[in-house]
Amino acid sequence: MSSIKVSAPAKLMLFGEHSVVHNHPCIVTAVDQRLYLEAEKIIEPTFVLDAPQIGIKNYTKPIVKLRKNPIKPGAAFVEFAVSNFLRSHKQLGGIRIKTKSNFSSKFGFGSSSAAAVATIAALSKLYNVALTKKQIFDLAYMTVLDVQRAGSGFDVAAAVYGGTIYFTTGGKQIIPLKITSLPLIVGYTGIKASTTQILHQTEEKEKKYPKLITTIYKNIEEIVDEAKTALEKKNWKNVGDLMNINQGYLEALGVSSPKLSAMIYAAREAGAYGAKLSGAGVGDCMIALGNHNSKFIIQNSIKGTGGQIINVKVNEPGVRVEK
Ligand code: PMV
Repeated sequence: MSSIKVSAPAKLMLFGEHSVVHNHPCIVTAVDQRLYLEAEKIIEPTFVLDAPQIGIKNYTKPIVKLRKNPIKPGAAFVEFAVSNFLRSHKQLGGIRIKTKSNFSSKFGFGSSSAAAVATIAALSKLYNVALTKKQIFDLAYMTVLDVQRAGSGFDVAAAVYGGTIYFTTGGKQIIPLKITSLPLIVGYTGIKASTTQILHQTEEKEKKYPKLITTIYKNIEEIVDEAKTALEKKNWKNVGDLMNINQGYLEALGVSSPKLSAMIYAAREAGAYGAKLSGAGVGDCMIALGNHNSKFIIQNSIKGTGGQIINVKVNEPGVRVEK
C-alpha cells in the first residue's frame, strides 16, 4: 500500500471536565464532525504536510529533524505523531500528509487530538503495523502531552474509540457506554478559550484552596458515576439534573463565564432538562438536553443570547479507514 485515507471524529465532553485531569472519570461522546487525513509514502526521507484550512502548504522537514525547532504552529500535532510512530516502528523513506476537516477548529471540538489519532492510525495501515486501539491511544496521547504538556487524553480516546465513553485520566479506564440516543443541543459562545491557560488558573486555585477544590473534583466524580447509569437508561430528567449540578461545580471552579451562563440559563428557562458548559470553559461550547418538542424553543433561546447553534450527531464511530 502506498497511500491511505482515514478519518477521526471530534468530541464533546458531557460530564467531568477538569476533575478528569486529576485522576477522576469523565464521559465524552464522539461527534459527526470529522478530520480527514491522507498519508502517502514518498522516497525522500522527508515529512511533508499540507493543511490548507489552517494555512499550511507544503511544510517540509527531513525525517531526522522531526520534533526539532522551528515547528510551524498548527503542524505540531501531526509532526510529533509521525515522529512518535517512527520512533517505535522505524521505516525507510518519507511521508506526505494532507489534512482537511469538516468543522472549524475554533469550536474546541478537539481537532488537534483527532489529527494526532488519524496520523497514527494512517501510518499503522500504511506500513502494515498492527496496532490495537489502546496502542493507537497511547501513541496519540504521548503526542498530545509532547505538544501541550497537559491534558487527560479524553479527546484522544473519543477520536480512537468513538461512541460515548466513560474515561479516566490517561486512559486508565476506557469503557464504552450503551447509548442509543442522546437529544443534545450544542451552542457555541463565539469565544475562543485557551485550555492551557484555564488549566493553569484552576491549578492556582487548587494550590490556594486544596481541600475545597479536591472535594469539588470528588463530588464531580459522583455526578459522572450517576450520569453513566442515567444515560444508559435514557433517564433524561436525571441526566439533566446531573448536568445542572455539574455546572454548579464548574461555576465554583471559576471556569464558566457570563456568556456561557446566559446561554445555559436561557436553555433551562426554555424547558431543557439541564444545561452545562462543555470542555475547558470560559468560551467554546455549552450543551443542553431537550426532547423533540422543546428542541426548537431551546435553540431559539440560546440564539437569543447571541449563541450559535451547531448541529451535531453524537455517539459517532471512532477513527476509520475511508475509501
Ligand atoms: O475544551 P477542551 O476540549 O480542551 O477540554 C478540556 C477538558 C479538560 O478536562 C479541562 C482538560 C482535559 O484534558 O481533560
